[in-house]
Formats: sequence, structure tokens, C-alpha cells
Amino acid sequence: MQPIRSRQSADVVALPKCTSSSFGELAARRRSARKFSANALSIELLSNLLQETLGVTGRLGKSEEGVPGYPLFPYPSAGALGALDVYLIVRHVAALAPGIYRFLPDTCCLERVSELNTSVAAKALLDDSTVDRSATTLVFVAVLRRLTHKYGIRSYRLAHLEAGHAAQNVVLHCTATGLSSFTSCAFHDRDMSALLCVDGLTEIPCYVVHFGNAA
Ligand SMILES: Cc1cc2nc3c(=O)[nH]c(=O)nc-3n(C[C@H](O)[C@H](O)[C@H](O)COP(=O)(O)O)c2cc1C
Repeated sequence: MQPIRSRQSADVVALPKCTSSSFGELAARRRSARKFSANALSIELLSNLLQETLGVTGRLGKSEEGVPGYPLFPYPSAGALGALDVYLIVRHVAALAPGIYRFLPDTCCLERVSELNTSVAAKALLDDSTVDRSATTLVFVAVLRRLTHKYGIRSYRLAHLEAGHAAQNVVLHCTATGLSSFTSCAFHDRDMSALLCVDGLTEIPCYVVHFGNAA
């Protein structure tokens, strides 16, 4: 089977030759990389990555009675409803105790959820030794209740699309800063939910990005 669509008729319009750009150069260099060094990831690199790819970048609408407008992100969000929570399984990050953390995108803090039980985390990630060597695994969790009042059963689809947008930001940032990363859906749903302390029904782990220093 052809992996990409190619010409099927004579009726084609050749587009102008692509001019080079820093975005094009970055996007062309992005590759999934599954080899990680044992060196701890610097907390400054982690912080920059989280803030620049997933942090709040603006507000939509007026503040009312001390409640700010809807947060806006560096990725598109259906209805600007911010469907995602971001969790980190931290293994080797300098100055950060191993554990499960939740990223707070408006204040750019990490909220500790629990200590890291390495065997439970490994089981949730299907005992993949490649993943165990990454400094951290970022898990996108779709928080469906933020969408369902507006989008009903389409919410599930919209939250997953949003996770794809956000994950692309993360992997491009890794490329830009020389980190290895790859995205994956290879996890056990119930074990991952238990690891993150989410119910797996209204808050659903949907996509992960493993990243760390390149080997
Ligand atoms: C939805 C999705 C799930 C993926 N799951 C895995 C996975 O379980 N394990 C893995 O090693 N790579 C996984 N990948 C990464 C792909 O294997 C990778 O993107 C593909 O081989 C193309 O290589 P590239 O990313 O270097 O261009 C996944 C990618 C996507 C989009």
C-alpha cells in the first residue's frame, strides 16, 4: 500500500519551491528517538519546556469578580476549554525528587501527586526498558467534564486532538534543545490511571511523551 498519496491525474498544480525557514529546519530535524542517557535532565530545561509548550500564554474574555478569562495555550484548544491536564512521571531530573507530578500551567509549578513506585510505573508503561531510561514521561490526561457541557459525545475526540497538538509542541521543543523524545500510546489504561490517581472515566490518560537527555 502507498504510505502517502501521490499523483493520480495530470491535473496538478506545482507549488512554488519551499523557501527555508527556522521552523522548516526544526520540523525536518524532528525524529522519534528512543535512546536516553543516564544523566539527569536539568530542571531549567524541563521548566523551559513545560512553560514554552504547555504554559498559559494569554486570556480570552473579561475577568469577572476576580475570576480571570479562559486561559489560552501555545496549542489550539477546542472552545478554549483547556481539555488537558499534564502529569509527569519524574525519574531522573536534577533537583526534583522522583515522583508523580501535575503541571499547573498558569503558575508554572509542579504539584506533587505521589512518590514514584518504579515497579508500578514500569507496569503501567508495559515494562518497556527503553522508557525506564528516559528522564521523564509526560502524560496528557483528557478531562472530559470541561468539554461535555458544550460538545457532548464529541468531547472524547476533541480532547485527543488537543493532546496531539500539545504533544507536537513538546517533541519540537525537545528537537530544538537537543533532547531525545518519542510519543506513545503504549500504556495500560487502568494501571496508568491508578498511577496518576485519576478515575480513567472522566479523566482519561490519552497520550504520553517520553523525553530526556540523548544517549
Ligand atoms: C499515536 C501514536 C502512537 C505511537 N506509539 C508509539 C509506541 O507505542 N512506541 C514507539 O516506540 N513509538 C510510537 N510512536 C512513534 C512512531 O513510531 C513514530 O512517530 C514513527 O515511527 C515515525 O517516526 P518519526 O517520529 O521519527 O518520524 C507513536 C506515534 C503516534 C503518532
